[in-house]
Amino acid sequence: MQTKKYTMTVFGCQMNERDAETIRGFLDELGYEEIDDVTVADLVIMNTCAVREKAEAKVFGRIGRLGPLKKKRPEMMIAICGCMVQQEAVATQIKKTYPFVDLLFGTHNLAAFPELLQKAAQSKEPVLDLWSEAGEVVEGLPVTRTDGVKAWVNITYGCNNFCSYCIVPYVRGRERSRKPADILREASELAQRGYIEVTLLGQNVNSYGKDLEETVDFADLLARVDQETGVKRIRFMTSHPRDLTEKLAFTMAKGKNICEHLHLPVQAGSNRILNSMNRGYTREHYVDLVEMLRRYLPHCALTTDIIVGFPGETEDDFADTLALVDSVSYDAAFTFLYSQRSGTPAAKMPNQVVGEIKKERFQRLHTLQNKHSLRHNKALVGQTLEVLVEGPSKTDATVLTGRTRGSKTVNFTGENIATGTLVMVEITEARTWSLLGRTNLEKTNTDDEAI
Ligand code: SAH
Ligand code: SF4
Ligand code: F3S
Repeated sequence: MQTKKYTMTVFGCQMNERDAETIRGFLDELGYEEIDDVTVADLVIMNTCAVREKAEAKVFGRIGRLGPLKKKRPEMMIAICGCMVQQEAVATQIKKTYPFVDLLFGTHNLAAFPELLQKAAQSKEPVLDLWSEAGEVVEGLPVTRTDGVKAWVNITYGCNNFCSYCIVPYVRGRERSRKPADILREASELAQRGYIEVTLLGQNVNSYGKDLEETVDFADLLARVDQETGVKRIRFMTSHPRDLTEKLAFTMAKGKNICEHLHLPVQAGSNRILNSMNRGYTREHYVDLVEMLRRYLPHCALTTDIIVGFPGETEDDFADTLALVDSVSYDAAFTFLYSQRSGTPAAKMPNQVVGEIKKERFQRLHTLQNKHSLRHNKALVGQTLEVLVEGPSKTDATVLTGRTRGSKTVNFTGENIATGTLVMVEITEARTWSLLGRTNLEKTNTDDEAI
């Protein structure tokens, strides 16, 4: 019998990427092979994201383009899953607009994927299966990781924060923590199999453990991953400022393999907007946190997320965001135009900001942030930093690319260096979004303890 083939497109965040690895795991067990060419695939999967309108529009466009292919090859199955589908209204709309889709399922019933696939294969009608509740954390699902060096490990699922603009709590359910023993086992196995970097994933890692019987918080977990698993580089995301503790900064400072990088989304610089966003902290509290963090970790890279044009944002509010970005001086900021998400409180707020104003503010923020990114990068010129090699650069195969512990991309020259190696690289030049360098083999020590 011929091996069945599938293609998968993944939209959205690392949670979705990690879920896709579980789907790959299931399909491996079923004997499927992953390919790129959609025109010969037996199964086409799209794992979707609902966080902004643009993400959703892309998915609608892609499904539409599958129509003619399905007409030509009716035996080709199409499955759409993930955060978009978890919204019942959107799932119903996809089903109605694209009746040729064979299977629709949400984020809560991922573990049932093999049964759903079988059901859809046997059914003449499209199968739509959504669970309104997330249920208990399911351990032991298969996983096929696409990267052999860096891995994601979930520590919490879902979110309880209900920031007023955000769809995530509605499509990922309430927050559930995995047990420390399960996380530690997974991280240790990854280290044993040669993975160098592990990123602990949660929508708000700082509230880890609140729902567990065991008394454990995120700082405790992080310290144990550092001490007990053998993972050489530990990252985590995302940290919500409201729940960030001094204990975490202390744990990061004391840690051996915890990377000196914190992603701490601020979202806005005006207290009025932060309140309306339901973020649960003030600008002053946020600035205090940054000061505290820099006391413990003076060289920690700091990155953030910012939304521009939240409903009611005035020029004064936006000026507060610019002033905050200028004073905190981030290494990088992910900036987004506010997108109305139906079902969230902010979508119904008055004074939605018009597109033109949003775009103009976005540009100003971008220009300011670029100045700070370049300033931080320039300060690294002349230093020798540890870089995890990711492989040849996409634009120039003679150049290698990798990341520092502070999560900066470095393009560098060096010979006979394999992907997955930790090398010392001397930084020779700074760009806004990357660094240039050359390997410093004298300082590259193969003795783990010395790195
Ligand atoms: N849990 C993480 C982030 C989840 S979504 C956190 O709390 O930081 C990633 C980012 O998308 C958010 O930080 C926010 O900046 C942005 N985002 C979420 N909803 C949005 C919306 N409706 N419009 C624009 N940006 C949004
Ligand atoms: Fe969305 Fe806020 Fe939860 Fe992040 S913390 S996922 S922004 S609701
Ligand atoms: Fe992630 Fe998008 Fe879902 S950001 S949690 S894939 S809505």
